[in-house]
Amino acid sequence: MKQNIYDNPTFFKDYISLRESGITYNDFVEQPAMKSAMPDLRGKTVLDLGCGDGHFSTYCIENGAAKVIGADISSNMIARAKKNNSHDNIEFICVSMEDLELPDQQFDLIISSLSVHYIEDFPNLVQKVSRLLKNNGEFIFSTEHPIATARKGSNHWVKYEKGDKLHWALDNYQEEGKREHDWYVDGVVIYHRTISTLINTLIENGLVLEKVIEPQSTAAGLEQMPKLINEKRRPSELPPVK
Ligand SMILES: C[S@@+](CC[C@H](N)C(=O)[O-])C[C@H]1O[C@@H](n2cnc3c(N)ncnc32)[C@H](O)[C@@H]1O
Repeated sequence: MKQNIYDNPTFFKDYISLRESGITYNDFVEQPAMKSAMPDLRGKTVLDLGCGDGHFSTYCIENGAAKVIGADISSNMIARAKKNNSHDNIEFICVSMEDLELPDQQFDLIISSLSVHYIEDFPNLVQKVSRLLKNNGEFIFSTEHPIATARKGSNHWVKYEKGDKLHWALDNYQEEGKREHDWYVDGVVIYHRTISTLINTLIENGLVLEKVIEPQSTAAGLEQMPKLINEKRRPSELPPVK
């Protein structure tokens, strides 16, 4: 079942204010890794799945992409994308990845930044990606790391009495499926998959794995967001796989 949590007004307001702060995991951990994996974008056609406010679609155009389609389930996000990132060569469409149909179209590059962990049927998505890629096309995506998504509930650090972190609690790793956690609102749904499922689903759908990155914070991130030191203790994201 699809959840459209970014259209929840409370969630959306808090999420946007976090991203506008410019002091986030996205800025210092995930985006630098995604950008480091980008091919030469000049002349490329790009599909941005779960494009959010469209900033990565714009990044692609600014780096030479010929045409980008950004798709997202959230009408809030797509409205923001159209307002902040409109460009003649970017088309934003409000549709879920599950329902996206682009008959007769293929892309040089499909990107998806921190969105695929919201999708229940990962094999179906990868099958679609494989069909939508041109020969030698590339799929570059980031997702929450299985070590971060495995355990149920929301409190994953085991702490000393005084609150210092002792270690990260890993549990339920082999039990794939739905996880609900509290992030601005109760009951935000994501899906946990093991590393082998993530990788084998790509291979089974004809993709060739080139690189996997388990990123840590940039130096600027450690200065501006000291808690990112915890990324040395456990991975939180797995970008990019391509
Ligand atoms: C963490 S945000 C990332 C947005 C953007 N890619 C970025 O990096 O800023 C996740 C995005 O995935 C979108 N999303 C969640 N489930 C989706 C689905 N089933 N189909 C399409 N988009 C989805 C959300 O609406 C949200 O915009």
